[in-house]
Amino acid sequence: MGRAWAALLLLLPVTRCADFSDTHLYVTPSNTQEAVEIQLDFRITRRLNGSDVVYVQLPKFTIGGGGKTPGENVPRGELILSPSVYFEGQWDEGAFDSTADPFRNTTLSLYVREEVRIPPNTVVNLRLYKSNDIRVYCGFDDVEDTDDDEFFIWTNSSASKDGRFSIEKSDRVGNGCSAMSDCAGKGSCDFCKERCMCYTGHGSGDSYRQVSSIDCSLLECPVGPAWGAIPKSAIDGGHDELVMCSNAGECLMEQGECECFDGFTGEACQRRVCANFGAECGDHGQCLTMHQLAMRDDAFPLTGNASATYGAGVSGANKTWDFETMQGCLCDSDWAVGLGDGETQVAEYFGADCSRRRCPSGRDPSSKADGTDCSNVTTPEGYGVGSKHNKCHYECSGRGNCDYGRGTCSCFAGYAGAACDRLIGNAAVVG
Ligand SMILES: *[C@@H]1O[C@H](CO)[C@@H](O)[C@H](O)[C@H]1NC(C)=O
Ligand SMILES: *[C@@H]1O[C@H](CO)[C@@H](O)[C@H](O)[C@H]1NC(C)=O
Ligand SMILES: *[C@@H]1O[C@H](CO)[C@@H](O)[C@H](O)[C@H]1NC(C)=O
Ligand SMILES: *[C@@H]1O[C@H](CO)[C@@H](O)[C@H](O)[C@H]1NC(C)=O
Ligand SMILES: *[C@@H]1O[C@H](CO)[C@@H](O)[C@H](O)[C@H]1NC(C)=O
Ligand SMILES: *[C@@H]1O[C@H](CO)[C@@H](O)[C@H](O)[C@H]1NC(C)=O
Repeated sequence: MGRAWAALLLLLPVTRCADFSDTHLYVTPSNTQEAVEIQLDFRITRRLNGSDVVYVQLPKFTIGGGGKTPGENVPRGELILSPSVYFEGQWDEGAFDSTADPFRNTTLSLYVREEVRIPPNTVVNLRLYKSNDIRVYCGFDDVEDTDDDEFFIWTNSSASKDGRFSIEKSDRVGNGCSAMSDCAGKGSCDFCKERCMCYTGHGSGDSYRQVSSIDCSLLECPVGPAWGAIPKSAIDGGHDELVMCSNAGECLMEQGECECFDGFTGEACQRRVCANFGAECGDHGQCLTMHQLAMRDDAFPLTGNASATYGAGVSGANKTWDFETMQGCLCDSDWAVGLGDGETQVAEYFGADCSRRRCPSGRDPSSKADGTDCSNVTTPEGYGVGSKHNKCHYECSGRGNCDYGRGTCSCFAGYAGAACDRLIGNAAVVG
């Protein structure tokens, strides 16, 4: 039994115990540029004996009077600290590497006095008194809140199990961004520079959404080619300039979003709406740009050439100004539209907003000619030509009137059927 337990215990993972725990850094007063008292609490989990050293990295701290020039290092034993029965302190100024991370590697060394043994689990409340004239060059956030904690503690004791430990907690030092409403929740604060770093979408990460206030609360709006601007030359149509909301809307700076004037749409108001009758193109069409329409072989005018690129190649530019700004409705159709075999040269729904509907087409029952045959027939707009078996729309078979609101025929006397393509009574085939 005992042996079994022993075997089991050997299999259990060994919990790694850190050299230090319960680390907390306090700075009084928590201001920059004035002499401070530093208190560092820590529990040392190992035995320390004479000549072991505890090192503490204290970035942004300097003994050089607060400026960029590092001060004189303080040799071992000359720092004013407690508990001086345990430690002799030494101060090594860090390098003023960059304004982003000043005095990054300032290091406090605590030499355990020769004759001293510090038992494991001793809690140390170390104080470095104000009279040392140590200052904080620039502010920092509470360590608990920051990701880039650079405050470390470690020891060179031979009992040490690990390398450097992040100090778990620290006070916040300096004003941070309190003067800028703490970045309005739309940015993080660079405590050292006391400057807001706005989040993506609030001034960073977007080419257009530039921040226009130091607290990230106001944003510029998306830009588009101006619908109207003062021309700068004889050939400038006034559309070359990229302006907020394309000069066709108001910028709501708190959201960084455009509120477009009637008739304009898109995040930068860069497009015209299709038809301004409630829903765009009603229930019977799609709203497409000129560029998209040009690539459809069922869009009007029919050309049978959907490889055309709208507005391409004009005076060196790849696209004309209205390439993606102007839109139109491509109306739905129950029948296939186009110049091909079996396709019809007009669509069922028509009109700017596709609100009108064509009536059924058919062959005139009183005529031998086939009015629905559009082989080799040029379209009404005069661009494309129908291929073999292409269809013309012969509305109500030429024997009725169409109600374009409903798309239904009212047939003349003697004719019947949805397309009036049936003879009734004694009407006769003529011609
Ligand atoms: C800080 O780093 C610089 C090099 O980056 C080095 O010259 C200097 O000795 C270091 N200071 C301390 C206190 O570690
Ligand atoms: C720790 O560093 C001190 C000072 O450099 C040295 O005297 C001591 O031997 C070192 N301790 C260990 C265990 O290396
Ligand atoms: C110092 O501490 C280590 C590790 O705890 C221990 O093994 C060693 O005996 C100690 N040395 C002295 C001189 O007390
Ligand atoms: C189709 O469009 C291309 C490119 O615009 C043009 O070069 C070609 O002549 C057109 N073909 C017809 C049949 O219209
Ligand atoms: C025009 O199109 C060509 C090829 O697609 C491209 O290399 C060029 O950068 C474009 N120029 C502009 C001004 O967009
Ligand atoms: C198409 O029409 C043209 C001119 O109207 C004519 O010359 C040609 O023969 C016709 N082609 C066919 C296949 O009917």
